[in-house]
This record gives sequence, C-alpha cells and structure tokens, in this order.
Amino acid sequence: MIDVGIIGGSGYTGGELLRLLANHPEVDVKLVTSRKLSGKPVSLVHPHLKSIYALNFEALNAKEAAERCDIIFTGVPHGTAMDWVPDLLDAGTRVIDLSSDYRLPVDVFEKTYGMKHRAPRDAIFGLPELHSEVAEAKLIGNPGCYPTGAILALAPLAHAGLVDRVVYDSKSGISGAGIEPTETSHYPNMSQNVIPYKITTHRHVPEIKQELGLLSPGIKVNFTPHVIPSVRGILTTAHVFAKEGAETTLQDREAVARIYRDFYKDAPFVRMADVVPRLGAVRGSNFCDISFEPEKGSDRIVVVSAIDNLVKGASGQAIQNMNLMAGLDQRTGLWFPGMAP
Ligand SMILES: NC(=O)c1ccc[n+]([C@@H]2O[C@H](COP(=O)([O-])OP(=O)(O)OC[C@H]3O[C@@H](n4cnc5c(N)ncnc54)[C@H](OP(=O)(O)O)[C@@H]3O)[C@@H](O)[C@H]2O)c1
Repeated sequence: MIDVGIIGGSGYTGGELLRLLANHPEVDVKLVTSRKLSGKPVSLVHPHLKSIYALNFEALNAKEAAERCDIIFTGVPHGTAMDWVPDLLDAGTRVIDLSSDYRLPVDVFEKTYGMKHRAPRDAIFGLPELHSEVAEAKLIGNPGCYPTGAILALAPLAHAGLVDRVVYDSKSGISGAGIEPTETSHYPNMSQNVIPYKITTHRHVPEIKQELGLLSPGIKVNFTPHVIPSVRGILTTAHVFAKEGAETTLQDREAVARIYRDFYKDAPFVRMADVVPRLGAVRGSNFCDISFEPEKGSDRIVVVSAIDNLVKGASGQAIQNMNLMAGLDQRTGLWFPGMAP
C-alpha cells in the first residue's frame, strides 16, 4: 500500500483527492491537514465523505507529515506550497503539488505571480500525456486546470508542426476558484451569467505557452477565460490557425484524426469524442474529451475539449501522476465514467 497525506485537505482539491482515493485499491490515506479545522472530522467540511473516512484534520508541520507518508499532495494556495515542499522532500517524501509554485521556471513564476520564489526545486510538469518522466519524479508541479484542457486539445497539432496561432476561449465552473466565497461566486452574480475575466492576462497563459512551445517552438498563443454558472468543468474552444502550407492537412478530417489517434495511442484518459464534447460527459471523471471541426476553405480548424477542473484539471491528474510514480497502471482507482446527465 502507498501511504499518502494531503496538506490543505479542507479545500476543494483536497476534498476531491479524498473522494477519488476512497476507492483506490493501493492507497491508505494517513493524514489530512487543516489549520482551521484541526481535531475536527473531515466530514464536517466534506459531508459526502461521512462514513467513508474516520479521519480528523490535523495541524502538522512538514516533517511530522513526511514521517507518516510515502507521497504527499499539497492542495494549498500558490505562494504557500513553497513553504512545505522543501521540508517534505528533505524528509524523503515524494510530493505532488497542485498549486502553481512548481510548474514554471523561477523567473517566469516570479513575473507571473508577482512574488519572490522562496524555495525553488527541480520539478516535472505533471501532464503525463506529455511527460513520461513523471514516473521517476520526486516533485511534480501538477498542471493548472485551464492549461490541462488547453494543452491536451492542441498538443497533437502543435507536435505535428501545423499550427501558427491558437486563440483559446475557455469557460470554467466556479469551483475552479476554490472554497472561499468571492463577489463573483455570489449566487446573484453568478447565476444565469457568463463572466469573462483576466481577458488577456490570465496567469495560466505561461504554462500553456511553455508546454506548446516545447512541442512547436514559436507557436503563438492567446487565451481568454470565462466563469460560467456550473459547479465543475472546463470547456475550451481552440481556434487554431494553420502554418503557411499546412492549410490542406488541417482541412483533411482523416489526416487530423490520425494525428490525434497516433499522439494519444497510450493516453487512456484522452478520448476523441463522437459528438462535440460536453461537460456532462466528463463531470466527476478523469477524462479529457476532444473533437475538432475544420472550417471549409479556411486556414482555421476549431478544436473543443472538456474536462472536470477538479479531476483531470487537478486531483484526478494528481492521482494519475501518483499511480505512475508508484509503478501502477495509470488508470488505477480512476477508471470510471462521468456523472451524466
Ligand atoms: N479548484 C480547482 O479547480 C483547482 C484546479 C487546479 C489547481 N488548483 C490549485 O490547487 C490549490 C488548492 O486549490 P483549492 O481549490 O483546493 O483551494 P481551496 O479550496 O481554497 O483550499 C485551500 C486549502 O489550503 C489550505 N491552506 C491555505 N493556506 C495554507 C497554508 N498557509 N498552509 C497550509 N494550508 C493552507 C486551506 O486549509 P486551512 O485554511 O483550513 O488550513 C485549504 O484546505 C491552489 O493552489 C489552486 O490554485 C485548483
């Protein structure tokens, strides 16, 4: 059995890790931390976990947590994980960080998040469909939710060198913002509404550029996020413009289908959807559904992806990484469908 711990277990990604790990055959959850709720049962803030776990939240330091675990998930705000990760690693634990502290090079992180990185460490970007090195990693920077859907939608075409520019229009459910209420998440503001935000400046753009740039140096990326009145899910529409000379290939449905099939042949969680992807088909699951539609007589092809932000966009992906780190089949504990309708 793998002994795991969750730092920041009273939040949404922590709760989702617990929900998903409840049926994992190889995992024993040893500890869950919360500063505010130490001593209280996890079911106080996650009532859906009542009777599933007999765990209380604990307030621990990194060394105390590391002594009891093989692998630790840090589901804490950015700028906070860096206070935990070095001590966890030094104590011999492997770490999967769900925050953005270890996804980017230090200079890019500091510019993007407007803060000094106090504890840089080598980490692997934890998108297993692109980085098989996760299996050997000591520290994983688990990707952001928007980048997961955006990168997976485009990686095969970028890798094939067919793309000049991609313009993303992404829509996220409100759980992407975490458990603390905000003005945006206030019901009268969110209900029956669609709210664009950080229209040209979202912090996830450098992650998307980083990963697509590795596949296709010089690729141009634009991204605009929206929040929608859904609890979970991210639907991403990628307007993809062909490189000069690649227009004919991108118009050829069979050729494009082959490119996706080949690229994702060993990626069980990426599904080429028979219909346009919808949030209802992936909700609660670790799948990323993708479809594409060439625009006749144009240099544009539109690719659509759907994920659950809390699963493939966070905790499910973290468990997929954990499986690979532990030498397990990546599907272990994650092979179930979404909660349609
Ligand atoms: N929500 C998503 O869809 C999503 C997707 C991908 C990645 N992420 C990232 O994952 C991380 C967690 O997100 P979330 O949505 O779960 O956030 P959340 O719901 O706000 O939960 C944050 C958790 O961190 C704990 N925490 C806060 N400050 C801490 C500190 N200084 N030391 C230790 N624990 C601390 C909180 O517990 P106490 O205050 O009780 O200690 C709480 O359990 C964030 O970095 C977020 O950007 C989120």
